[in-house]
Amino acid sequence: MKSLAATLALAALVNAGLRFPCSTLTFQRLDPAGEPGSLPSSHVHHIVGGNAFNASMDGDVGERATCTTCQMAEDFSNYWTATLYFKHPENGSYHRVPPLAVQPLLGGSQGAQGGLTVYYTQFDLSRDNLAQQPVKAFPPVRLLLVNTPGFRMVVGDPGATDGQVHAGLSYQCMNGASRGAITAAMPQQPCPSGIFTTHHFPPCWDGKNLDSPDHRSHMFNTVAFETVWDTSKFNSMWPSGTPSPFVWSFEGNGYGTHADYMFGWKGDSLQRAMDKSECFYDGCGSIEKQAMSVANQCGVENMVGEETDGWLTSLPGQGMPMNNK
Ligand SMILES: *[C@@H]1O[C@H](CO)[C@@H](O)[C@H](O)[C@H]1NC(C)=O
Ligand SMILES: *[C@@H]1O[C@H](CO)[C@@H](O)[C@H](O)[C@H]1NC(C)=O
Repeated sequence: MKSLAATLALAALVNAGLRFPCSTLTFQRLDPAGEPGSLPSSHVHHIVGGNAFNASMDGDVGERATCTTCQMAEDFSNYWTATLYFKHPENGSYHRVPPLAVQPLLGGSQGAQGGLTVYYTQFDLSRDNLAQQPVKAFPPVRLLLVNTPGFRMVVGDPGATDGQVHAGLSYQCMNGASRGAITAAMPQQPCPSGIFTTHHFPPCWDGKNLDSPDHRSHMFNTVAFETVWDTSKFNSMWPSGTPSPFVWSFEGNGYGTHADYMFGWKGDSLQRAMDKSECFYDGCGSIEKQAMSVANQCGVENMVGEETDGWLTSLPGQGMPMNNK
């Protein structure tokens, strides 16, 4: 694992954004960033990306993996979040909520199965209208945060009760193609077309020690995951006027969850991707992509060997001490 100092040495100018779909790799109680070595970890995750995913991940993931569920064929990183469950309001049983393929702004989901959409961006997704940002408006930014093997960050605030939108986690209630208002809380009424969640890693560098004459170029890449949870099939079991029956896999029901990222771009492929000005979100002409029908064939074994789907009388790992939310 590289230290921050080593990572700083990798800093380089970049000027583009990336957005691509990744299909679901697996649902398992594994968390090589938050609870390395724990087999199983404390709660179930929804995981996408390369097939080097394991309870522990050391060394160069991009060299060890042989396939990825992501469209970017050289991206063997893993991206994961807690997963959503429906808790039956009457009998207390749990059922895992499947993710729907996210429709990126351009280009559709391109055959992704479940999964999530990964963004690498220097913009705050909740503030900036990506569609109105001309490529030339991108100031150079330095690739720091995303070039860190083993990088992990918690987003959202599990203890928050103030109802404010937190940068790290937001919800939108889907109605057809409409995403609805961004909220800090889980939607408290049934969403006809699912619940859209954005896990947004905050930029983690203030730029004080770097050249930034325009006061913008010190901004760093951030990574965001978008997931649509197919909650609609459970809506008929949600008695009207009662609290939301959807809970995160660690029994959390509100403002906090986490997202994790294990860096696994092969060689300098992320740098090459970000260096290409034509690689603006969906237009990465010179970056190696694979058909999602190929990506969908990538998988890993069920290393934990437990059922995470179907009706369960308790959440997998329920009651296990958690050092990771
Ligand atoms: C996961 O790690 C274990 C223990 O190191 C190893 O035996 C196994 O082959 C690994 N599995 C994969 C799919 O890499
Ligand atoms: C709870 O309700 C669901 C849906 O009707 C059912 O499939 C499940 O078996 C029930 N669980 C228990 C413990 O009765």
